[in-house]
Amino acid sequence: MIILSLFHGGLRHGLLVTKGLRCCAAALAVSLCTVPLAWASPESLLAKMTLSQKIGQLQQSHLEAVTAEDIPKEVKEAIRQGRVGSYLNINTVAVANELQRLAVEEGPHGVPLLVARDVIHGYKTIFPIPLGQAATWNPDAVEQGARIAAIEASADGIRWTFAPMLDISRDARWGRIAESFGEDPYLTSVMGVASVMGYQGKDLSQGDSTHIAATAKHFLGYGAAEAGRDYNTTYIPEPLLHNQYLPPFSAAVAAGSASIMTAFNDLNGVPASISSYLMDTILRQELAYKGVIVSDWDSVVETVVHGGAEDNKDAAYKAAKAGLDMEMVSTSYADHLAALIQEGKISELEIDQKVLRILRLKAQLGLFEQPYTDIARQAEKKHPKFHQTAKEVAAQSLVLLKNDVPSHKKAAKLGKVLPLKPGQKVALIGPMVDAAHDQMGTWAMDGEKQDSITVLQAFEQAKVKGSVQYRYVPGLDFSRDKSTKGFKKAIKAAKWADVIVYVGGEEAALSGEAHSRANIRLPGAQEALLAALKQTGTPLVVVLMAGRQIELHDVLESFDSLVMAWHPGTMGGPAIVDVLTGVSEPVGRLPVTWPKMGGQLPMYYNHKNTGRPPQSRPFIMMDDYPLEAHQHSLGHAATHMDAGYLPQYPFGFGLSYSEVHYSDLAMAKRVLARDEAIRVSAVVKNTGLRPVTEVVQFYVQDIAGSVTRPVKELKQFQRIVLAPGEAKTVTFELSHKDLMFFNAKTQHVFEPGAFRAWIAPHAAAGKPLTFTVR
Ligand code: NOJ
Repeated sequence: MIILSLFHGGLRHGLLVTKGLRCCAAALAVSLCTVPLAWASPESLLAKMTLSQKIGQLQQSHLEAVTAEDIPKEVKEAIRQGRVGSYLNINTVAVANELQRLAVEEGPHGVPLLVARDVIHGYKTIFPIPLGQAATWNPDAVEQGARIAAIEASADGIRWTFAPMLDISRDARWGRIAESFGEDPYLTSVMGVASVMGYQGKDLSQGDSTHIAATAKHFLGYGAAEAGRDYNTTYIPEPLLHNQYLPPFSAAVAAGSASIMTAFNDLNGVPASISSYLMDTILRQELAYKGVIVSDWDSVVETVVHGGAEDNKDAAYKAAKAGLDMEMVSTSYADHLAALIQEGKISELEIDQKVLRILRLKAQLGLFEQPYTDIARQAEKKHPKFHQTAKEVAAQSLVLLKNDVPSHKKAAKLGKVLPLKPGQKVALIGPMVDAAHDQMGTWAMDGEKQDSITVLQAFEQAKVKGSVQYRYVPGLDFSRDKSTKGFKKAIKAAKWADVIVYVGGEEAALSGEAHSRANIRLPGAQEALLAALKQTGTPLVVVLMAGRQIELHDVLESFDSLVMAWHPGTMGGPAIVDVLTGVSEPVGRLPVTWPKMGGQLPMYYNHKNTGRPPQSRPFIMMDDYPLEAHQHSLGHAATHMDAGYLPQYPFGFGLSYSEVHYSDLAMAKRVLARDEAIRVSAVVKNTGLRPVTEVVQFYVQDIAGSVTRPVKELKQFQRIVLAPGEAKTVTFELSHKDLMFFNAKTQHVFEPGAFRAWIAPHAAAGKPLTFTVR
């Protein structure tokens, strides 16, 4: 990991050199373009504001402008009148600085704006999609990615991002699973905190203008959309809501996330953006959250469409009462709050609290002292070191899911297909071998495809270095391509080669917001192309780029190796080639359960047991079922006749180029008093020939509870490096507090009793030991 100290500090209060800013000319004569403000504190400022100026602070408007000249007259007027507190979707420093100039020089009381943008997994240097970042199981990697994104975005005057997305995602049909850290509350919490730290630094108010405010989103339950269809209704009973969906947000609050965004969905019958249970009871009271609560885009007025509010005025009333501070894009606050105050339905004091939170955020960001961004900072974007870090993170996000010795006799002599052997002839086939745009994935609005290094380009670089020889034949032009016209040439290349490297999957546009799929198989004619390639007998390595798990049930058998690359970002190509050639070891692990078939969804490892859990005894699949079979033949268990009950790959799974053996699971004491530390250890040994980075996972099951408990839950994990032959004893320590959960009355309780513990390489491995806490 590179050290970013180069960019820490030093840039504080940069000299403003933006051309054409009147402030600059005037202010340079006085001091380094700092703005002379009658600024003492948010409270003193508030005391001077009129009601309409206060309401203006609660408005976040949308603006797309490339140059200062593009800013429409009405926008300028709105700022001069103090009718807007924030703009989103700004991505040039010229526009950001001009907006700030209008606000601080011509607006009432010189209140700067919050300039915001969705900086989700990189700004100019695109990192893997969040789901891929979660697959690193490395919070440092996530923190570095967010830090670099903050530096690049703040160079364009952006000081507020709408990330990280902390929605627990159990359904691969849901397009936004790509933007999530997966299905597990603990892993999502760890990654969410790392992300907040990366964007904000330890303390946002330290005056470092290269940090930006984070937003934990979407509050709450958005990932539970029925049928994985985006924006759909969610029903999440207590205590599931508190035990599974809330923890990442609690962790982000504790880590100081400056803002939280309400969700689009209707949760248990109340649209989240007008839910006083979510905003007031949970956020403000239970979690003592002090930061800004912002709506999602139009989500306040959409509560009318939900049927949760009569009209926009009612929506504004309900949102304001429930605790929402800032309204994104729609204008129900601007249009109706004044009247609601006049009618005595809302007090000005309630509005003051909201305004204060927004002014405090502006103060924390140092915007009153320095609203402008030094244009010299443009040079900080796309720094070669950022690209190097993006490559390292992308390499760590790759998950090796399959790596067999090919059945083909000649090839079998070389052992497992990966890593590729020096001098091998490689047929590079597939619609995403050279997918500069698509490898960036969803939410890469500011990434530029000309900066991407594709697999093809990386192979060319490797070839130049003499390590591989290849022929490139795409076979299909894009992931949804249904034409078979390119197959012939692809088959010819496959026959020439010692090994096929197929790079396919899903284009960026097939996942992300509003991009859900009912069928999660490979799109287009990819399955047919893979079947044709298999016929050649040449060993087949498949690299998938996708924003979700892909149903591979019918094609997996024909792959000799499989690498999940998610959408790996700007540096995806070199990262993939490094792993394929063994320059880097594969270290990623799945942050989600990988279903065999889409019909198994939602599918997640931390499910309940049911009264009739499936048995591992021989399981008869539907096609093997005798005619006129007896009703009891399947044993009446919680299974699917056509898919069984196991996933394709379990949560936490990932192979390496070495072999790792777990043994000696132990606890010094199996019966503990409540306040004793719960210590569990195991020996983890690298029994293979290559170094390994092993993600050692610690799971616990609370065997019986006042509400039934999941079959297991990830409690901690450790990434350890083992040289060939090396063994380490890995110890995990919990307190009884780590075993607490929310009961049916939403009380956070510890219930004494028996527990099982696993130390294992993934969620489906290992035998547990049992312990009791009294
Ligand atoms: C809608 C999305 O749900 C949200 O995540 C995003 O931050 C906003 N649009 C702003 O673009």
